[in-house]
Amino acid sequence: MVPADLDPTRVPVHVALVMDGNGRWAEQRGLKRTDGHAAGEEALFDTVEGALDLGIEWLTVYAFSTENWKRPPDEVRYLMGFNESILRRRRDELHERNVRMRFVGRRGWRVPKRLVRRMDESIELTRANTGMTFTIAFNYGGRAEIVDAVQAIVAEGVPADKITEATIRRHLYDPEMPDPDLMVRTSGEYRISNYLLWEIAYSELVFTEVLWPDFRREHLFDAVREYQQRTRRFGGLDAERDRKRRSRSG
Ligand code: FPP
Repeated sequence: MVPADLDPTRVPVHVALVMDGNGRWAEQRGLKRTDGHAAGEEALFDTVEGALDLGIEWLTVYAFSTENWKRPPDEVRYLMGFNESILRRRRDELHERNVRMRFVGRRGWRVPKRLVRRMDESIELTRANTGMTFTIAFNYGGRAEIVDAVQAIVAEGVPADKITEATIRRHLYDPEMPDPDLMVRTSGEYRISNYLLWEIAYSELVFTEVLWPDFRREHLFDAVREYQQRTRRFGGLDAERDRKRRSRSG
């Protein structure tokens, strides 16, 4: 259950997660790196439950980056199969929880067809769900997303002086996705690693030493607790103005 000290009126609308530390978790136990990824599944689904308990509306997880192709071929192959199998095995349960699934990233580039099919099926199955939107960033890179947006804008022939922040926003992978309020990264790494670069401009960042396979909903609650202690100003001065601004942009 949700801890009583969390303020239910100040739950972040969108939480973005970097699930880091699977490899180190496995190495510490004398296991294969891929065993660490496998152990990350339980962490992920416990976190999804916690997000649902909290009433988080958008949860976005970094499952595979455009840079992850540099990993050894065996690990890349494992991650493709692993993601495919998670979607196949768990989409019904997400559907029953009224979760809407979406994907951001370069789906049409290098990603095995079988996995793309599974993504499309998951989107289709859960399209009309009204609970949390669970977005999986797959073959995702923040710079690639901006490049893809710029290419689309140029292809549409938008005149240079008509390009605004709103134009770029509308051409991101999911224009409906609100900017994350909170970004959480596990495993004691203090980096953004090309994650949602455009979108996290004003996100609160929380870093934890916990390795991803050990992460549970309680750690999400801890991150939200820390978030609730922060004052968000969006470059402005007072909270009231922030709230007005957010309701306008949201
Ligand atoms: C980073 O740990 C983790 C990943 C590259 C993959 C995480 C993916 C999952 C847990 C599955 C998600 C699947 C779906 C369908 C949402 P690392 O290997 O970089 O760890 P290290 O920094 O210790 O080496």
